[in-house]
Amino acid sequence: MGSGERLAGKVALITGGARGQGAAEAKLFTEQGATVVISDVLTEAGERLAGEIGCEFLEHDVASEDRWAEVVADITGRHGRLDVLVNNAGILGGAKLINTSSEAWDRIIAVNQTGVFYGMRAVAPTMMEAGAGSIINISSVAGLEGPFGSMAYTASKFAVRGMTKVAAKELSPSGVRVNSVHPGLIDTAMTTEFPKEQMLRTVPMGREAEPVEVANLVLFLASDEASYCTGQEFVVDGGMHG
Ligand SMILES: NC(=O)c1ccc[n+]([C@@H]2O[C@H](COP(=O)([O-])OP(=O)(O)OC[C@H]3O[C@@H](n4cnc5c(N)ncnc54)[C@H](O)[C@@H]3O)[C@@H](O)[C@H]2O)c1
Repeated sequence: MGSGERLAGKVALITGGARGQGAAEAKLFTEQGATVVISDVLTEAGERLAGEIGCEFLEHDVASEDRWAEVVADITGRHGRLDVLVNNAGILGGAKLINTSSEAWDRIIAVNQTGVFYGMRAVAPTMMEAGAGSIINISSVAGLEGPFGSMAYTASKFAVRGMTKVAAKELSPSGVRVNSVHPGLIDTAMTTEFPKEQMLRTVPMGREAEPVEVANLVLFLASDEASYCTGQEFVVDGGMHG
């Protein structure tokens, strides 16, 4: 895709942006005129990608409350604004109920759920003061239905869907939109171990998606084209759910 202006003048933070869907979003947002900051725990990959596509990288564990405050202060201090937050960072947990350890539960909830809470809370004052902003929380089809054998992950992704709706109601009067995105089976490092042949039988389109196919939806929600969309669930899953 060539250069465009769909995000001209906007400053965007994409968590977990070093690879996968976050990286695809960072590339697309940059092409569409945004100043993009990616953050991740993968420092080397993040710095390399930032150099390649012309965005910025910050080392950032989304489960750290203190680091969230530093990251937002850094971006607003240097750029004077923060228009878009994509809460994309996430980790997988495939264990069944009786096999889910407390340690695994705590970490998945800390990253996938509490990280999204910290993120929304950290950027909301700046966006409310500006009277505009878009927060996109990456949930999953596992935030819409209960897949077999991923207890903690599903809990975290349902929570993201619910928190999105509460935040949307609270922030909409200030001009800040909040939506959740629910990807199905996407070809990233997260799914390399999946039994894909078996899983694809549940996808009417019969294939997994490229990360850019999610990024195109996230771009729409980040842009002013989505000016009347808030508090909603946007599914991108080749027809899997429903
Ligand atoms: N791949 C899929 O099929 C699929 C389906 C539905 C939802 N999702 C969700 O999409 C999002 C992106 O995943 P992906 O498919 O690109 O996988 P991915 O593993 O390639 O990307 C996830 C990124 O998040 C980063 N990350 C992990 N823990 C972090 C932390 N504590 N702080 C900051 N960054 C952290 C990782 O380093 C990685 O760069 C995740 O929230 C995931 O749960 C993925």
